Amino acid sequence: MRDLEIGAALLEWYDAHARRLPWRVGPAERGAGQRPDPYRVWLSEIMLQQTTVAAVGKYFRRFTSLWPTVQALAAAEDAEVMAEWAGLGYYARARNLLKCARAVAAMGAFPDTMKGLQALPGIGPYTAAAVSAIAFDRPETVLDGNVERVVARLFAVQTPLPTAKPELHALATRLTPQRRPGDHAQAMMDLGATICTPRNPACGLCPLSAACMARARGIAADLPRKLPKRPRPVRMGYVYLARRSDGAWLLETRPDKGLLGGMLAWPSSDWTETLPPESPPLAASWRDPGLEVRHTFTHFHLRLALRLADAPVGVEPSRGRFVRHQDFRPAALPTLMRKAYDLATAHQPD
Ligand code: ADE
Repeated sequence: MRDLEIGAALLEWYDAHARRLPWRVGPAERGAGQRPDPYRVWLSEIMLQQTTVAAVGKYFRRFTSLWPTVQALAAAEDAEVMAEWAGLGYYARARNLLKCARAVAAMGAFPDTMKGLQALPGIGPYTAAAVSAIAFDRPETVLDGNVERVVARLFAVQTPLPTAKPELHALATRLTPQRRPGDHAQAMMDLGATICTPRNPACGLCPLSAACMARARGIAADLPRKLPKRPRPVRMGYVYLARRSDGAWLLETRPDKGLLGGMLAWPSSDWTETLPPESPPLAASWRDPGLEVRHTFTHFHLRLALRLADAPVGVEPSRGRFVRHQDFRPAALPTLMRKAYDLATAHQPD
């Protein structure tokens, strides 16, 4: 099979098997003249950078019902958007999401080229290529983890990731067609997600199996090769949950810079490689329930010892503010802080 035939076989497969996704204009609707909404394509791509298609669905529907257009999102309150993003992780992305929405609203519409898109906050080469291809049907090469796997197998690339990225990009570019490049990009993603899966690829169902060099050599499941990952270090600290007798919780908004930036949080100590000194945000008699919150970030594992206190009414905290019971939504907490809340309330039901 030559490159053009591979592309044609892939599109034929996509026409029959495309996944139905909330942000997608499927091949039939597209054939009938429907065009994707660049706002929805962009929003889905930013969300999909951190989690799976299955997990994104709920967030995507919520965001698009609260903010159906980029202008609506641009006009939203920062704190409200951060609260809706809670649980998705990588909170810097949510801040960039808002910055980008505001820049696009000021421009009037999304740019349609790689260059124009990459000039926007939070849009790197991958997202620019994905939006340009999917929303505007431009022949850009869209290489996410799924597509890397498909290409590594198709051409039996033995170079390990991440070293192999430029080589895989060049090979993927050979396959990118001038006709229906947006559907091609989505077809590559779907093939990687549903057929050319990491562990047990369903080569018997694959429209490209006749062309697949890894299959011919019996090594499909072994590719792509990967360089060993560095082990993540452990960081430690304390997290402080104080509740007043009227039910209000002591919370703070984390500084914009740094981890969980701009998110609602329980006050905590520094997070360091050896246990830091205690730094309670309030003079109270702090209890040690003997519980620890564990959470893994990209570059380290975190273990925070829980500290609990009943705050007397009228005591001023040195940081943060008391949030009334009726104004507090645990779902607005980032996952680490939500785990601390769940642990504390399981230990001491309210
Ligand atoms: N993963 C990242 N972007 C995607 C998309 N547009 N469709 C399906 N899976 C994806």
